[in-house]
Amino acid sequence: MSHTLAPPDGKVRLTVIHPAIVRVTHWLNAAAIVMMAMSGWKIYDASPLFGFMFPNWMTLGGWLGGAIAWHLAAMWLLVANGTIYVVYGLASRHFARDFLPISPRGVVRTLREALTFRLQHRLGTYNAVQRLLYVAVLLCGVAAVASGLSLWKPIQLQALASLLGGYEVSRRVHFLAMGGIVAFTAIHLLLVILVPSTLVAMITGRARVETTEAEMRS
Ligand code: HEM
Repeated sequence: MSHTLAPPDGKVRLTVIHPAIVRVTHWLNAAAIVMMAMSGWKIYDASPLFGFMFPNWMTLGGWLGGAIAWHLAAMWLLVANGTIYVVYGLASRHFARDFLPISPRGVVRTLREALTFRLQHRLGTYNAVQRLLYVAVLLCGVAAVASGLSLWKPIQLQALASLLGGYEVSRRVHFLAMGGIVAFTAIHLLLVILVPSTLVAMITGRARVETTEAEMRS
């Protein structure tokens, strides 16, 4: 995750913790997700699946046709940009290095530390809960795109639609995946508010990171 910029003469180094490709794709994906969720809620309102509707102020597109146009436009942005992020994450081993391993014990320990206000956030290193959330949101994104494609082209992509259990099940999978992404975003924003220095680093890419003696020797 990090590339040192300054020669180490102390224990704190100015380090690139988020390469440009991660920052650019992160912010474009965030914008695409907001557009997709808000236009998706307008589309949902035209034929509500459950016993509620989304208020107009939470939606994008103005009417069903407009919302579908926004949804598909943002979909291309999300799919193209998301593919770049995922290919980079796999090929550079960023996912393997920074999102794994995730152990149940690590998650419990991090939650316990957070709830007792003892959690230390080390910029440039994701804790077990962050890792779990990032992997979960990536899987929700894959489920949202796959079920969305099955709803968009149910005839051409019959194999995908039947793999997901048909059109009606795909609608529910799509809604559930959206719920997961929205819940992730709410927790993610709360964590960013609690540790605002992470936001500066996600914009500039750089942070002053404390290094251990062992890291300084390596
Ligand atoms: C719109 C407001 C958002 C803000 C202010 C924000 C902010 C941030 C920040 C500050 C980090 C770095 C955390 C750290 O260093 O500890 C981060 C990482 C991340 N965010 Fe967001 N985020 C937003 C939306 C989203 C959305 C909508 C998603 C996906 C649904 C998302 C997915 C991620 C992922 C996967 C990472 C890890 C990036 C990596 O290292 O590859 N974010 N975000």
